[in-house]
Amino acid sequence: MGSNFAGKRVAVLGAGKIGGILLKALLEKGLLSPQATVATVQHEERARALAQKLNVPVSTDNAAAVRGADIIFVCVKPQVVQEVIEQIRPNVSKKQLIISVAASVPTSQIEKALGSEVPVVRAMPNTPCVLGCGMTGVCKGKFADASHLETACALFNVVGKTVVVDEKHMDAVTGLSASGPAYIYIILESLAEAGVKVGLPRDIATLLAAQTALGAATVVLETGDHPALLKDAVTTPAGCTIDGILELEEGKLRVTLIKAVVKAAQRAKELANG
Ligand SMILES: NC(=O)c1ccc[n+]([C@@H]2O[C@H](COP(=O)([O-])OP(=O)(O)OC[C@H]3O[C@@H](n4cnc5c(N)ncnc54)[C@H](OP(=O)(O)O)[C@@H]3O)[C@@H](O)[C@H]2O)c1
Repeated sequence: MGSNFAGKRVAVLGAGKIGGILLKALLEKGLLSPQATVATVQHEERARALAQKLNVPVSTDNAAAVRGADIIFVCVKPQVVQEVIEQIRPNVSKKQLIISVAASVPTSQIEKALGSEVPVVRAMPNTPCVLGCGMTGVCKGKFADASHLETACALFNVVGKTVVVDEKHMDAVTGLSASGPAYIYIILESLAEAGVKVGLPRDIATLLAAQTALGAATVVLETGDHPALLKDAVTTPAGCTIDGILELEEGKLRVTLIKAVVKAAQRAKELANG
């Protein structure tokens, strides 16, 4: 299928938080054309509001939405995926590509529900996609090939970075990068609170915290250096940073973050069952 989207028709089923972010970004960046894009939601009033906001047809009829679509995004909650796939099944063929962003739902479940050899790609984006700095993990199902993965990567690259992983790692991706923004927001909130405690105005404290996190992340990404080495470079012997690090170690920050990701990844395995 590749990465040439000219004339490609796209249906986004479940244009809620993540579906809405993807839809809006892909339209704004000109990858999709409003004339060739449709979306669905559950509630009629949401459909009307979204259609007005994005200037694309939005309905509550999944079966009709996928008719003639080249790419079908499934962005509903994991527990609703089976029902939606059963609705679209009569209108889906091998020529179409299904991209599911539902946590926990394996490609094999979607393939089985479709009952034919339709290519399925599973993707796990995160909410920073809204500003084009998202992180998405993708993997392919049994009937998808390299060109389908290329299509999915090209779409998600528009809203950030994309990494291809084996499907067995998708719950781990969910626990780390899909849930991760929430952990980082808590860290930023805490750092800003700390700034207030040591006398800074809240807006300045928040800016210092957020830009510091962005700067540190950028250095990790651009140098490829191990975070531990970069941390050592900030830590002057008998300086201030080592005193701060000592507090972090006493407060078990490391083990707490590790346990948070492990728990979220475990929960990601269960979501499709409610
Ligand atoms: N939020 C994230 O950070 C994130 C990240 C990665 C992946 N995901 C995955 O994305 C999926 C959606 O999560 P979300 O946070 O975007 O949830 P959400 O905001 O609740 O969006 C779900 C959307 O599905 C619609 N919907 C419900 N039943 C439907 C049906 N039968 N047919 C068509 N549309 C239907 C809802 O319609 P109404 O608007 O009318 O209620 C809503 O727009 C989940 O599977 C989640 O695992 C989420």
